[in-house]
Amino acid sequence: MATKSRRFFDRCQILFIIFLLLPHPLGHAFTHWALEDGIIKYQEESLYTLHSPGDLLLFIAQAKAADELRSLEKKSADLMRQQKLLRSVEIERLDRERLAFFSDPDCRITQKKLSDFDLYLSSFLRLEAKKIKIEDFADYKVQLPEDKEKFTKPYCNSEFAFSMHSYDHLKGVGDRKLLINASEAGLVNPIPHAKKLEEFGHRINVALEKNETSWVLLNFASIYWRVAGNAYYAVECLRRALHYSPRKHKDLALVSLANILHRSKYSLDAAILMHAALEMTTDYDIVYFTLGNIYGALGQFDLADICYKYVSDLQPAFEAARLRMHAARCEFKLGSPLENPKFQDDIDELEEMVGKQQLIEDTHKGHLADRSSPLRKYNMYSDIQPPAHERGDYI
Ligand SMILES: *[C@@H]1O[C@H](CO)[C@@H](O)[C@H](O)[C@H]1NC(C)=O
Ligand SMILES: *[C@@H]1O[C@H](CO)[C@@H](O)[C@H](O)[C@H]1NC(C)=O
Repeated sequence: MATKSRRFFDRCQILFIIFLLLPHPLGHAFTHWALEDGIIKYQEESLYTLHSPGDLLLFIAQAKAADELRSLEKKSADLMRQQKLLRSVEIERLDRERLAFFSDPDCRITQKKLSDFDLYLSSFLRLEAKKIKIEDFADYKVQLPEDKEKFTKPYCNSEFAFSMHSYDHLKGVGDRKLLINASEAGLVNPIPHAKKLEEFGHRINVALEKNETSWVLLNFASIYWRVAGNAYYAVECLRRALHYSPRKHKDLALVSLANILHRSKYSLDAAILMHAALEMTTDYDIVYFTLGNIYGALGQFDLADICYKYVSDLQPAFEAARLRMHAARCEFKLGSPLENPKFQDDIDELEEMVGKQQLIEDTHKGHLADRSSPLRKYNMYSDIQPPAHERGDYI
């Protein structure tokens, strides 16, 4: 009896020491019984639980594991602090950008950057300026087939070899089978005939069958395909249109082709075509406005600004050009935040740190998992039974 109580006293002493050594750094360190709603339950286990107070080696191993864990936690806390700091730097930067945005007169006018505008608006040159009437080329008096199924489409598949005039050397033209086939529905505004698209296509095709080399009809055919949403067929028509157009009318097909390539993100090719169009066009406003959009999409905000300013000076009532000019200036002054090397450094560092932290957290989890296997059987409480009246139902 005396030895038994003596052992019990030893246990208590060791337990007391453990208490002092391990001031529960996880915050919820001790495994113990607790009375909860009248039911006695195990509390959550932790690494700091002493499983077998009589086992010195085990005690040392456990203390070591706890130390390791604590050092990991300290590292993790350091990382967390650094991360917080970086976040606050980033927030500060965004605040600065916002401040710059709202204190800049150009940004204040538009309230948005040029990249927030639609830079892929469809454009087409004025047919009136070239004294072209669709009715003069496509016979609008001729009877349409009764069955809509019999309507034909203006495919431009006449024999046609490589031609420098058709800009086949541009990458976008070379990749014409890869271009995005999406409808430019907005084109029906400058060309109302295209609203009745099937009829328009059929009439153009009938006329085209009579004259495959008519640059006007080839241009009309490309309008059909731009509205129908087939970039490949549109480019095929425009390659021929460019080849057969007299020099002074090449701008019509150049602007169409530039639109198509720009919409498929071949914007640099589009800029080249628009510059070529500038050499003969008289529709400066449309060409410069579209070129402004192309430069905007390319991130060349200073060049976009020049284009829009030209249009705005030419046509002061053209509000869209004036707004885009201010938006281009605004964005040029703000610069792209990702091009700021300091900011990129911060981001890289942050990513590296998040990675490190993940590693530590994984190791941490590993430690907690390890502990449950070999040490588990040493749970000192396993052989202590609570008094019968305190025993609850375990769930
Ligand atoms: C667009 O359509 C043409 C003809 O129908 C086709 O050859 C081309 O591959 C299509 N483009 C894409 C990206 O699917
Ligand atoms: C075909 O169209 C072009 C351009 O409109 C014209 O110059 C030419 O004379 C036409 N050819 C015929 C055979 O009608």
